[in-house]
Parts: sequence; structure tokens; C-alpha cells
Amino acid sequence: MEGIGSSSAKVTFNLLLATSMAVIGSTFQFGYNTGVINAPQTVIEEFYNQTFILRFGHSISQSTIDLLWGFTVAIFAVGGMIGSLCAGAAAERFGLKRSMLYNNSIALLAALLMGFSQLANSFEMLIIGRFAIGLNSGINMGIAPMYLTECAPVRLRGMFGTLGQLGIVTSILLSQILGLHWILGTSQLWGLLFSLTGIFAIYQLLVIPLCPESPRYLLIVQKKEKAAIATLKWLRGDDYDSSKELEDIRLEFQSNSTEQKTKISELFKHSHLRQPLLIAVVMQLSQQLSGINAVFYYSTEIFLNAGIPKEYTGLTTVGMGVVNVVMTMVSVSLIERAGRKILHLIGLGGMCVCAVVLVVLLNLDQSETVAWLTLAPILIFVAFFQTGPGAIPWFITTELFDQRSRPSAVSVAGLANWMGNFVIALAYPSLDGAIGGYTFIIFAVLLAIFWLFTYFKVPETKGRNIMEITALFQPKNTRGVLTKNLDVADDVIFENGTKF
Ligand code: GLC
Repeated sequence: MEGIGSSSAKVTFNLLLATSMAVIGSTFQFGYNTGVINAPQTVIEEFYNQTFILRFGHSISQSTIDLLWGFTVAIFAVGGMIGSLCAGAAAERFGLKRSMLYNNSIALLAALLMGFSQLANSFEMLIIGRFAIGLNSGINMGIAPMYLTECAPVRLRGMFGTLGQLGIVTSILLSQILGLHWILGTSQLWGLLFSLTGIFAIYQLLVIPLCPESPRYLLIVQKKEKAAIATLKWLRGDDYDSSKELEDIRLEFQSNSTEQKTKISELFKHSHLRQPLLIAVVMQLSQQLSGINAVFYYSTEIFLNAGIPKEYTGLTTVGMGVVNVVMTMVSVSLIERAGRKILHLIGLGGMCVCAVVLVVLLNLDQSETVAWLTLAPILIFVAFFQTGPGAIPWFITTELFDQRSRPSAVSVAGLANWMGNFVIALAYPSLDGAIGGYTFIIFAVLLAIFWLFTYFKVPETKGRNIMEITALFQPKNTRGVLTKNLDVADDVIFENGTKF
């Protein structure tokens, strides 16, 4: 099929097929199970209560229900933390393609557990299923961004990395719509709603045999040069001249061939690895501690507290999901033109202003007009999030490290993300209980700190190959050797006056 774009970076049908395999089969699991828990909360809480009545002849207190519900929401992130720690090891042992393939068995098991929990009168099955799908999502969010960026041409690497986030937000929206109480968010159908996550696993199982392993993994880890060339041609078109791209990968290969894989503990020992790791971890924390999931997990409550009538909270949540998707599309189109750093700064800065405006509005005398006005900073907060902080932290780790260190770094950065996710999921309700309308001031302060960090410490990675990026963190006297023939100027290295 004819591709679009220049011959050095054609978007072919095959590239899109491999991309859809990773996006629908992997990132959808994460997004769908992030969003699915919001709408059917009341009907599932009632199921918990009924299970107790059936087993013990009496209902349970509201506080026990709250506890069980909090546990059901948060255990997803516990699975995610463990999964992200396993992702690096899985990538090294099985490669990216086989890791995704095997990971589907966990997704199918989770779908069965969650889907049949009501029939079996067992809320434990739902909780274990949530843990399992969290585990699956943790592995997926380590592997899929690596696969997407490693298959993409350098020029479009950011765009393809951002497509992972587009998968997440699309599946969040899908789960928000399907979860509405007139679709599947009912006391009879919620099991089906949760089990639909199995469809994404089935899609991946069907398409993955048609897709290749990532070319970088083939060449650098498996040392199969012919297979890497064949894969590059498969991805970019038969007439593609793979020599330049192969040369870039080979350079990375040569500088690493005598070295072992980097263990997680080694990332902390060497300054040239510690610096990008700090950047990757702080970028992930800036995503989660921005407060975005306070909005995504607890939107219904936030809207109710603001004074928006109950009958509209489902629709406003879906509206938020729509803004989320539209803005991610804008970000996909901007990322290669504007660059990562500027978009991340615009996103964090805009969110910070919105958080302050929201606090002011929530603390004004409540009237219906003010209630509806609060919708604006919440929607704009989500829009700014998707400008940069939504997508960039997930794939920038794959750009900051070479093939040798990437799997371990992705694991550690992913762990930071899931920990942030877990903390917000658990802490937001208590914070809201304690300081109510002022909670977002905490996010505003954190956002300002992350903005400063990004401004002073994060280098621009747009358009640079991995050798050029990793050379930014090398001690000055070895940079010349590492960047030989790579055209990296010193003024690029010391962008913004940043010295590591
Ligand atoms: C990002 C975050 C995720 C959040 C989502 C909202 O993918 O990692 O936690 O729920 O964006 O769009």
C-alpha cells in the first residue's frame, strides 16, 4: 500500500497495523480499566451488600462498603506497580512482541474473573480480577510505548508515542459511555461491562501473528541483522533504503555490544544514567501528581460538590472524556512540530492556572451559575493535561535511554507513575474531606514545582536519534567519542544553560 510522507518516514499500512495492534491490544486495557470503575460504583456497592446478606444474613455498614470500594479502585494500581516492575525483565527475556502476546493470558483471566463475579456471588473475584488487569496494564504500559517508538521512523517517533495516549483516552471515553446507567452500568449488566476488556486481548491475539518484533530489538538484543532489515522494509515499504536507519541502530549496537544489560540497581550508580532516570521519574510524577486522576476517578463527586445537579454528572463526565480525546488528537499533530519540552511546559502551566481558578470558584458563594462555571476550569485543566503531560511522560523514557538500559528505566519510571496513581486514588477522598475546595491548591503548588523542573532540567528530544540524546548525559570529555559523526553541537547539549 502507498504510504504518506517522505520516503525516509513513510506511514505504511503495515506500520499502522503494528501500531493498532499495540494501541488497541495494550494501551486500551489500561484506559478502559481506568475509566470503567467510575460510573457503576453504586450498583456494584449494592452487589457487595447483597453478597454479605446472602452469606451472613445481614447487610454491611457504609464504612465497610467504602473500604471495600476504595480497595477495588486502588488494587488496580497495585497490580500496575508490580506489572511495571516486571515489564523490563519480560522485554529482555521474551522481546516486546512475545511479552505482549503472553500478557493477554492475564487479561483474559481478569476478564473472566470480573465478568463472572456477580454470577458466582463473589466480590473477591472482582477484586482479584482488578488486580490481574492492573498487572496486565503495568506490563502493557512498559512494553507498548517501547514497541510504538521503536517501530516508528525517528521523525515520527513522538507522534507514534502519543498514539499510545490516544488509545488510553479513547478507551477511557468508551468505558465512560458504556458505563452510563442506560447502557451497561446497570445492576444486571455491569459484569459484562467489566469483561469487555477481554475483547482487546482477543484483537491483539488475532493481529499479533501478522506483526513483527521491533527492529531495534532484533538487531541489538537478538543480533539478527537480516531479520531487522526485513522488518524495516516491512514497516517502511519495500523500496525503503534502510541503510541510514540501520547505521544509527548499529552505532548504538557497537557502543553496547561488549556491555551487559543494565540492571535496575545500576541505573542509580552511574551519573549518566541517574540524570535521565531522574528526568523520567519526575516527568511521570508530574503526570500523576498534577491531580488528573482526582478528576478522572472522582469527577462525579467533584461535580456534585460544585453544585452541578446529579442528573447531569454522567454527561459532564462524558464531556470531559470527549475533551480528553480531542485534545490528545491535537497533541498528536503538534508533538513533532512543537517538541516535547514546550508542550509539557504549556500543559503544566495551564493546569496550574486552572487549579487556582477552580479553588477560587469552589470557594465563592454557591449559586447555580457559579456551579456551572466550575465546569470551565475542569475541562480546560483536562485539555492542558493532554497538551503534553498526558502523553509525553509515557514515551520520553524510551527516548532518554539506549537499548541496553531502556527496559530497566521503563520499569522504574513506570513504577513511579503507578505509585503516583495509587497515592492520588487513595488520598484524594480524605484530602477532599479535610480541606474540601482547597484540595486543588496542593496540585497547583506541585504543578509549579514540576514546571520549574521541566524548564531547567528536561532536554528537548524531538528529531534526535537515541545516540544523540544519551550523549547529552555523558561526561563532557567522552561526548566527542560518542557523538562522532552525529552532528551534536555543544550549544544543543547545554540548551537553556542546563548543565547536569
Ligand atoms: C494518562 C495517565 C492516566 C490518566 C489518563 C487520563 O494516560 O497515565 O493515569 O488516567 O492519562 O487521560
